[in-house]
Amino acid sequence: MEKLVIEGGKPLKGRVRISGAKNAAVAIIPAALLADDKCRIENLPAIRDVLVLRDIMNGIGVKAELKETGTLELDSSGLDCWNIENGLVKELRASYYLLGALLTRFGRVTMPYPGGCDIGVRPIDQHIKGFRALGADVDIEHGLIKIRADRLVGKQIFLDVVSVGATINIMIAATMAEGITVIENAAKEPHVVDVANFLNSMGAEVKGAGTDVIRIKGVKQLHGTNYMVIPDQIEAGTYMIAAATIPGGDVVIENIIPKHLESITAKLIEMGIDVRENGDSVRVISRGRPRSTDIKTLPYPGFPTDLQQPITVLLSVAEGTSMITESIWEGRFKHVDELKRMGADIKVEGRVAVVEGIGKLSGASVYATDLRAGAALVIAGLIAEGRTEVGDIYHIDRGYEQLEDKLRCLGADICRTNT
Ligand code: EPU
Repeated sequence: MEKLVIEGGKPLKGRVRISGAKNAAVAIIPAALLADDKCRIENLPAIRDVLVLRDIMNGIGVKAELKETGTLELDSSGLDCWNIENGLVKELRASYYLLGALLTRFGRVTMPYPGGCDIGVRPIDQHIKGFRALGADVDIEHGLIKIRADRLVGKQIFLDVVSVGATINIMIAATMAEGITVIENAAKEPHVVDVANFLNSMGAEVKGAGTDVIRIKGVKQLHGTNYMVIPDQIEAGTYMIAAATIPGGDVVIENIIPKHLESITAKLIEMGIDVRENGDSVRVISRGRPRSTDIKTLPYPGFPTDLQQPITVLLSVAEGTSMITESIWEGRFKHVDELKRMGADIKVEGRVAVVEGIGKLSGASVYATDLRAGAALVIAGLIAEGRTEVGDIYHIDRGYEQLEDKLRCLGADICRTNT
């Protein structure tokens, strides 16, 4: 069983380079199946979710080769499978994008329910609503999702909730539907825009991504492409928070898109952290104990739920009381019990956590309950007095490229052990 072992108390100093965006990558790889041709996708993060998707691709007749440089070459001319029995799809949430891609390619798809982090109920009713609106029949039987359509026809679709996954899945399924599809109340996250750009580079006609109305004009065919994935907004935000958490920290976070980080930058400045943007990098300097603040997670451009857990650590050592409202995932406070083992003073009531800032955390043995909880506990270990051991780090490996190596380069005392 692997663990991360951290001796806390060392401020982070230096430069760190951000990898490709996980949540863009995991949608772009399945979307590449829309072309029965070759796609080359660059700047993929070296994370488990990408490896699992590569293996799923190889399992369904696609030739998928992942180079060490983070480039995936996909040749889906041999793809002949719409019935996915591979249990690997349960290992990640994003396997639901295979539904939209295979439905478009074959007019049918059967697949087990996707997996992913346990952060609350994760319905896919809006995906299904979209597929049905485009003319597909959808049945759920014995844990399998079965979708079939003789033809897909463009439609106006109003999403009941702002959903990243449903927006992207419907966008994928509409690329070759007859006529025009309009997605209203669409998600505006940077990865939604990245997937739209990828689809357009294959010959699709997707307009308006990044706003809440996306218009897709169906085309007859899509072709292979070369594409470079955007930098990871959440990985960048995680390092910004890590740099801010330990007084004396001074970190330049490179290869970012500052616009994607505005809500995080604004919060850190509000807390008294020095944040300086410079082109495609941002420098975060921590001069002392941060001030408390309130956080409410919201769809983009609001504060991202995926950074709620890491920023809870910063608030737990801030001066004063902070209130965190988690409005996206009701089960995303599992890290709080682990932080309490380290001395944090946090009370959770439903979707709200009240954090009383304390002077210091103390090292303890804790477990990552999900991906971002894992990152949060590592940050807690970096600031805590003494030794912290973070277990169940397979969650972290799903979404952070070489977290401990990058932190070690910034001066952290962190290593991976196998017990
Ligand atoms: N929702 C529905 N019905 C649906 C879909 C979503 O009610 O059909 C609700 C969800 O229950 C949730 C809200 O809508 O309350 C937003 O869910 P969304 O569909 O946007 O989430 P997702 O697509 O399943 C992606 C990311 C998550 C991230 C959320 C929100 C991927 C693979 N996952 O999930 O990332 O938290 O968007 O931004 O893109 C992570 O990276 O750690 C992670 C969990």
